[in-house]
Amino acid sequence: MLPDEYRTLPEPELIARIAAAKEKLGPDLVILGHHYQRDEVIRFADHRGDSLELSRVAAAQRKARYIVFCGVDFMAETAAMLCAPSQVVLLPAVDAPCPMAQMAEVGDALTAWDALTARLSRAAARGWGKDALLPITYQNSTAALKAFCGRRGGAVCTSANAQQVFRWALDQGRRILFFPDEWLGRNTALALGIPPQRIAIWDPAELDGGCPDACTERSRSVGQAQVVVWKGHCHVHTFFTVEHVRAVREQYGDITVVVHPECTVEVVQAADLNGSTSFILRAVRDAPPGSRWAVGTEINMVARLAREYLDRTVVPLARSLCGAMYRTNLHNLLYTLEELLHGRFVGQVQVPAETTRWANLALERMLRL
Ligand code: 13P
Ligand code: SF4
Repeated sequence: MLPDEYRTLPEPELIARIAAAKEKLGPDLVILGHHYQRDEVIRFADHRGDSLELSRVAAAQRKARYIVFCGVDFMAETAAMLCAPSQVVLLPAVDAPCPMAQMAEVGDALTAWDALTARLSRAAARGWGKDALLPITYQNSTAALKAFCGRRGGAVCTSANAQQVFRWALDQGRRILFFPDEWLGRNTALALGIPPQRIAIWDPAELDGGCPDACTERSRSVGQAQVVVWKGHCHVHTFFTVEHVRAVREQYGDITVVVHPECTVEVVQAADLNGSTSFILRAVRDAPPGSRWAVGTEINMVARLAREYLDRTVVPLARSLCGAMYRTNLHNLLYTLEELLHGRFVGQVQVPAETTRWANLALERMLRL
């Protein structure tokens, strides 16, 4: 809980005190900031990046004793698992769970896994063995789900490397069970040339507790699938519609529409380009002056691009805000840093050793690719 005295501080004082705390903590501290953080927060980040880049930066930290993560829960968990046990990871927004990460619980994942592997082992005569399925989870998932995948030979992916990770699985002759984002899963499979009829969906809500019969029924319907996607989504990105794409094209004429692959298939297909937040950033940064861009991702990032590249037109495809990312602010960042100066850890993110061991297998498989 943020103490009252921090809630009411005026912005100039917050800024001065954060800068002073950073200075005092020196090389003991590193602040990581995801692109969706608001301007006033991200200006204090030593490293900005997308989810993949920040994982790599966290894993590479040798000197910093404290890693303060301006982002959401799954990002801080990943940092905590990848850095040394002696390093402390802190999340200023202690109440910043990503809603999509909550959509795939390990118990439900296990139910799906058991039903699908049983189905596939019965189909072994047709060339698919019991081990034909490989679980892959989007980084935007709980540590427990990453561990679930790691235990079963699977991997993590982010929006920046999903195609690479899918290819790694498919090249082994495996089918994929992908958690928890239906749309990143579908967009990635389609981009790799997998036909829509070989992409199936697993909706944990449909089971209604009726296993094993209901599971058997569901698994039968996914029998021919090469990729099975979990029915989860990011509300920030499913907010964008084909109508938004049509409207910006009508308003601006010659405009490039770039969206995040968490958008629905129809929006990704209506856009000109799609990719991770860093991909989007590079696309706008490397574009010629005078070019026009409509960007379908979180509004704080889009608004910053518009301010940073004034010689280009950058407009949001629509305004869509991530409430989880928005929970980090100057108030809780200052509180985190000042408590650190007193040797106290506010919002420390820790993952049980056994979970870390298995989740790291899945993370390392991704980082090696
Ligand atoms: P990136 O993988 O582009 O960082 O996206 C993270 C995210 O949360 C998008 O919703
Ligand atoms: Fe989660 Fe979507 Fe926010 Fe990313 S943008 S942190 S996936 S809710």
